[in-house]
Amino acid sequence: MYPRETISSGPIILRPAVEADIPAVARACADPLTQRFIPALPDPYTEDDARYWLMEICEERWRTGGAEFIIADAATGELDGVMGLHLPDRFGNVEAGYWVAPWARRKGVASAALRAVAEWAFEQGVPRVHLVAEMENVASQKVALAAGFRHEGLQRGGGPIRGGGRADMALFGRLPGDSGEPIGAFLPFLPEGGLTDGVVAITMLTAGDAPAYQALASMPDVVRYRVPPEAPPFAETLYRCAGAGYRWLIGVQAEMAIRDAATGAFAGDIQLSHLTPPMREAMVGYSLHPDFRGRGLVTRAVNLLADWAFAQAGLRRLISGTNPENLASQAVLERAGFTRLGTQKEYLPGPDGTWTDNVEWLRLR
Ligand SMILES: CC(C)(COP(=O)(O)OP(=O)(O)OC[C@H]1O[C@@H](n2cnc3c(N)ncnc32)[C@H](O)[C@@H]1OP(=O)(O)O)[C@@H](O)C(=O)NCCC(=O)NCCS
Repeated sequence: MYPRETISSGPIILRPAVEADIPAVARACADPLTQRFIPALPDPYTEDDARYWLMEICEERWRTGGAEFIIADAATGELDGVMGLHLPDRFGNVEAGYWVAPWARRKGVASAALRAVAEWAFEQGVPRVHLVAEMENVASQKVALAAGFRHEGLQRGGGPIRGGGRADMALFGRLPGDSGEPIGAFLPFLPEGGLTDGVVAITMLTAGDAPAYQALASMPDVVRYRVPPEAPPFAETLYRCAGAGYRWLIGVQAEMAIRDAATGAFAGDIQLSHLTPPMREAMVGYSLHPDFRGRGLVTRAVNLLADWAFAQAGLRRLISGTNPENLASQAVLERAGFTRLGTQKEYLPGPDGTWTDNVEWLRLR
């Protein structure tokens, strides 16, 4: 059992809960984002629920070998959130869980509290602390990395969704021997609002883009140059769009929408894939809906992305590949400053089990 003590960590403290915390716990747990990502919370959430949590659940947690701390502002004493440690599993591993109240978010509270509780747990002899965050909960995944937790994988169907169904859960873990240094993403996120040159804008894909992405990915002349050359099922598109932030954060792929800057309309997609950190290299790919073609939008989007990739994201090589018959795409790359390198024989899956050559392109920083 853990000692019921207060942990001090710079501007915050972690302390056992007291009755006076009930109104703030109730307000924070009624917040839609807290409700969205902690599906076990009652809905609606009332002060009676907060009282039950404090008097029964917290007490039980401490008594049976877990911990449940209030995160509070060290200067004002105001409640910022909650940080808990579940009971150890059969191998002694301990799972952390947390929320931060809407009024205290985006100030580093969760990252600081998670770091503090993990280091405190290691002092108590815990051999490993881990946490799971829903694939769409990018804020919580950033918290894990900022607190020195490493991404360890994705548990398919690992957690419940409010209202039914299961969500994939990203798993992060920290060991006592880890440095604890914040872990940076290979590619930073785009600035708030994305990138724009005044004519096109590029923004990270989100679940809301799925219908427009699906319409684009089903156009015959887009399907022809997809790898493999097939239209995706809508469920796959939705999963791709909803998980774009997660895959970006863990360095798998950066997937964006190309938009008409004036209207915000979805015009196409552009992505950095094949991320190769040691070479600081990525592959650019794109497609544009026919309604938006003939205005140079893709060339603008490639230039915008390349300028950001070289100046802000630390890349030094952008590669691309085109089907030899795709002259429009080759013209885009030439206009965007890429050099044609050569041809890879029978590289791309074509229709009906055939294989197609791939023309290789490069733009250096
Ligand atoms: C997740 C949560 C605990 C984060 O608390 P917090 O104190 O705001 O976290 P931090 O300030 O330490 O870090 C959050 C990071 O996520 C970023 N972030 C916040 N919302 C984001 C979003 N929608 N998309 C991407 N990043 C986001 C913040 O900018 C910050 O990153 P930065 O430091 O690079 O700027 C809080 O949002 C919350 O309580 N959510 C609801 C409950 C929940 O999800 N709990 C965790 C379940 S696993």
